[in-house]
Amino acid sequence: MLSSTIIRTTLATIFSLSCALSIPRSQDAPYVQFPIEFLYGADSRVTTNITFGTSNDTHPITVVMDTGSANAWIWQQNATVHWGSPYLFDPGPCNMTVPTALTYNPLLSPTSHVQNTSSEYIYAGYSKIVQGNIYSNDTLTFSTNTSIPNTRLALESSAILRIQSNVTCIPPPPYDKGIIGLSPYINSKMTQGPSFRQNLFSSSAINTQTMITYFSAPPSTLTTLSGGLLLGAIDTSKFTGPLVRILNVAETGEIGYYTEKPNITFNGQTFVPDVNTTCLLDSGTHADYLPFAPQSSAYKQFLNASGGMLKDENGVVAYNGTCESISHDLNISYVFAGANEGKSVKIDVPLRNYARGASLDGVAGEGICLLNLEVGGCTFGAPFYSGAVVAVDDGSGVLALAQGGVSRGVGVDTASLRIFGKGETFDYV
Ligand SMILES: *[C@@H]1O[C@H](CO)[C@@H](O)[C@H](O)[C@H]1NC(C)=O
Ligand SMILES: *[C@@H]1O[C@H](CO)[C@@H](O)[C@H](O)[C@H]1NC(C)=O
Ligand SMILES: *[C@@H]1O[C@H](CO)[C@@H](O)[C@H](O)[C@H]1NC(C)=O
Ligand SMILES: *[C@@H]1O[C@H](CO)[C@@H](O)[C@H](O)[C@H]1NC(C)=O
Ligand SMILES: *[C@@H]1O[C@H](CO)[C@@H](O)[C@H](O)[C@H]1NC(C)=O
Ligand SMILES: *[C@@H]1O[C@H](CO)[C@@H](O)[C@H](O)[C@H]1NC(C)=O
Ligand SMILES: *[C@@H]1O[C@H](CO)[C@@H](O)[C@H](O)[C@H]1NC(C)=O
Ligand SMILES: *[C@@H]1O[C@H](CO)[C@@H](O)[C@H](O)[C@H]1NC(C)=O
Ligand SMILES: *[C@@H]1O[C@H](CO)[C@@H](O)[C@H](O)[C@H]1NC(C)=O
Ligand SMILES: *[C@@H]1O[C@H](CO)[C@@H](O)[C@H](O)[C@H]1NC(C)=O
Ligand SMILES: *[C@@H]1O[C@H](CO)[C@@H](O)[C@H](O)[C@H]1NC(C)=O
Ligand SMILES: *[C@@H]1O[C@H](CO)[C@@H](O)[C@H](O)[C@H]1NC(C)=O
Repeated sequence: MLSSTIIRTTLATIFSLSCALSIPRSQDAPYVQFPIEFLYGADSRVTTNITFGTSNDTHPITVVMDTGSANAWIWQQNATVHWGSPYLFDPGPCNMTVPTALTYNPLLSPTSHVQNTSSEYIYAGYSKIVQGNIYSNDTLTFSTNTSIPNTRLALESSAILRIQSNVTCIPPPPYDKGIIGLSPYINSKMTQGPSFRQNLFSSSAINTQTMITYFSAPPSTLTTLSGGLLLGAIDTSKFTGPLVRILNVAETGEIGYYTEKPNITFNGQTFVPDVNTTCLLDSGTHADYLPFAPQSSAYKQFLNASGGMLKDENGVVAYNGTCESISHDLNISYVFAGANEGKSVKIDVPLRNYARGASLDGVAGEGICLLNLEVGGCTFGAPFYSGAVVAVDDGSGVLALAQGGVSRGVGVDTASLRIFGKGETFDYV
C-alpha cells in the first residue's frame, strides 16, 4: 500500500506529481520501501541507486545509505574534489571536477525548490570534509521507480580528502557520490540536516521513526548482495527467529547505534574479544572491525581456532584459500546480549559475504582471500548488515536484531508486511 506522498511511477509520469501532491493525504498508514545493495567491490558499503529531480537526462547515482551519519547530500554540478595534503583543512595540490553524470543541477529540474543554506559535513575523523551552499527539495526516485516527491538534499560544491599523493596527482582517489545519513535524529541543534528519515516523518510520509534493513539470501557466486530498507513498517519474512531487543549504549555526543560487544564464534569455538569497547552499527563502513587488539593473544587464539582457515595480514583477516573456495556453510557468528533478562541473539554472517574482491599484491596474495574483516576497535559495517536484520525505533529508543540473509526477494511480501500507525512499533522479545 502506498500513500499519496509515495508514488510508484515512471519517469515519464513524474510531471504529474505536482497534482498528486495536492490530493489530501490518505488515512491509510503509509510506509516507504526501497532496495539497498552491497555491491561486489573492496570499498563498497550499503548503497542504493537514486535519481534526483525530473530533468530529461537524469542519471542514477550510487549513494551510501549510512547508519553512521546524519545528513543527506549529493554533488552539485561542477563540484571540485581536492586532495594531496595530510593537513587538516588544507585542500592540497590536487583537484578534479565531479563528472556531470554524477551531479545534479536544480536549474534543469522543473520540480526543484532551492534554498540558500550552507552545509559542511565531516567524516571519518576529518579525513573527508564536504561543503556546499544550497539545499534542494526535489523528487527522489529509486531503481524500482518508487518516487518520493519534495525530498530535501544538500548540494555539495567541494570536498577535501586527506590523502597523500605524488606530484602527478595520479590516480585520483575514490570518493563518495553522495551519502544519505540514517542515524537517529536528535534535534535541530545536534543534527545539521537535511535529515532524510526525520523529514519523511515530519511530512507524515511515515507514522513512526522506525527503520528496518535486511538482505536476501546470498547468491551462489561472489557478487552483489541485495536487500531492502523499510521505513514505517516491518516485513517479518525477512528474518528467522525472534527480533531481540539489545541495548543502544551510545553515549551523549555519539551519533549512531552502539551495542555492547558480542561474543564471537567461529569453527565451533567461542571467544570473548579482549578490547573493552562498544560497537558502532555502521552500514557506511566497508568492513567489520572486531574488538580484538592486533597482536593480542585473544586474536591469536581466534585465528588458531580456525584450524588454518584464517590468518592475519597486517590487521586484516584473510582466508587461507581462494575466495571462491570458501564454503557456503561457513559462518562467523556474533552473540549479543539481549536488553531483557535471559535473552540474547545470534547473528550468523556467511564468511563468503566478507569476500568482496580485496586483493593482496604479489606472490603473498596467491591463493589467499583478503576479507573485509579487520581487528581493532569495533564497527559492524556492510558485511554485518548483509547477515542481520537491524530494526530501530527512534521514537521509543528501541534497537533490535534478528537473523537475516534468509529471504528470496528484496521487495516486500505483502502477506508479511505490517504498516505502523502512530505509536505502533515492531514486536520484539
Ligand atoms: C546500481 O549502480 C551500480 C553502479 O553503477 C550497478 O552496478 C548496480 O547494478 C546498480 N543497481 C541497481 C539495482 O540498479
Ligand atoms: C532535454 O531538454 C532540453 C530542453 O528541452 C533539450 O535541449 C535536450 O536536448 C533534452 N535532452 C535530452 C537528453 O533529451
Ligand atoms: C559548470 O561549468 C560549465 C563550464 O564552465 C558552465 O558552463 C556551467 O554553467 C556550470 N554549471 C553550473 C551549475 O555552475
Ligand atoms: C585545480 O588544480 C589546477 C592545477 O593545479 C589549478 O590550476 C586550479 O586552480 C585548481 N582548481 C581549483 C578549483 O582549485
Ligand atoms: C541565493 O543566492 C544566490 C546567489 O548568491 C542569489 O542570487 C539568490 O537571490 C539567493 N536566493 C535567495 C532566495 O536568497
Ligand atoms: C522504471 O521505469 C523505466 C522508465 O519507464 C523503465 O525502463 C524501467 O524498466 C522501470 N524499472 C522498474 C524496476 O520498474
Ligand atoms: C604517481 O605517479 C605515477 C605517474 O607518474 C603513477 O603511475 C602512480 O600511480 C602515481 N600515484 C601514486 C599514489 O603513487
Ligand atoms: C523542503 O523539504 C523540507 C524538509 O522536508 C520541508 O520542511 C520544506 O517545507 C520543503 N520546502 C518546500 C518548498 O516544499
Ligand atoms: C571499560 O571501559 C569503560 C568506559 O571506558 C570503563 O568504565 C570500564 O571500567 C572499562 N572496563 C574494563 C574491564 O576495563
Ligand atoms: C591451536 O589449535 C590447536 C588445535 O587446532 C591446539 O592444539 C593448540 O593448542 C592451539 N594453540 C594455541 C596457542 O591456542
Ligand atoms: C594455508 O594452507 C596451506 C595449504 O593449503 C597450508 O600449508 C598452510 O599451513 C596454511 N596456513 C596456515 C596459516 O594455516
Ligand atoms: C560471552 O561469554 C562470556 C563467557 O562465557 C559470558 O560470561 C558472557 O555472558 C557472554 N556474552 C554474551 C553477550 O553472550
